Amino acid sequence: MLNISNVPTHIAIIMDGNGRWAKKRFLPRALGHKAGVDALRDVFTTAENIGVKYLTLYAFSTENWNRPQDEVIALMKLLAEYLGKETKKLHRNNVKINVIGDVSRFSVKLQAEIISAIELTKLNDGLFVNIALNYGGRDELVRAVKKISNDVKEDKLEAQNITEKILSNYLDTSGMPDVDLLIRTSGEYRISNFLIWQAAYAELWFTDVLWPDFKGAHLIDAISDYQNRERRFGKSEGE
Ligand code: FPP
Repeated sequence: MLNISNVPTHIAIIMDGNGRWAKKRFLPRALGHKAGVDALRDVFTTAENIGVKYLTLYAFSTENWNRPQDEVIALMKLLAEYLGKETKKLHRNNVKINVIGDVSRFSVKLQAEIISAIELTKLNDGLFVNIALNYGGRDELVRAVKKISNDVKEDKLEAQNITEKILSNYLDTSGMPDVDLLIRTSGEYRISNFLIWQAAYAELWFTDVLWPDFKGAHLIDAISDYQNRERRFGKSEGE
């Protein structure tokens, strides 16, 4: 049974295993990614029902550009189609869509889809869905340092006054709570440059399930496990 008063506020997911899911079925990888998109529906519904506030999804990393060009193109097409088709439905469900990462490298069309999804849903106060696109934790930190240097140069900020809180405000997740629970599917045990600052104290949960097979029930398993952990934030036991 889930303890509804101890649901993680912010869950991040590394949706891994689309390629292997497709390979097992002798399908092209792009169809694995499509099945990966379809898996989101059940996860969103469950997250909403149990009161998760923030869900951050690793959809395209700064390293994913190194994949074969046809796969990158298929992923871009899928993202644009998803935003174009699903945004209205998500809006009706009070979902607020946001994107983290450096989207300047995407096509004008995809950037326009991103802007209109964010714009349409900006006043919603239901589930906050953060989609990480051309996102890398190190890249995000480099971009933050550049913005900070600029503000120091323009006398908007004093270098000696920089705190963890201030640095957080320069990240793409500014104003959002830290990650409580980080999930990775497909039996890989890595963070892969995802939310390296924000997940500093996150509980980690791994499963062998390939992302397209991931259901709301798996999310509930992860949260149950989370509820049995003792979060210490660097303190000693029972402190
Ligand atoms: C990892 O599987 C998955 C990706 C690189 C892409 C994930 C993207 C989606 C599920 C689409 C998300 C869309 C939205 C709108 C949020 P992999 O290809 O690395 O799988 P493999 O390790 O089995 O090859």
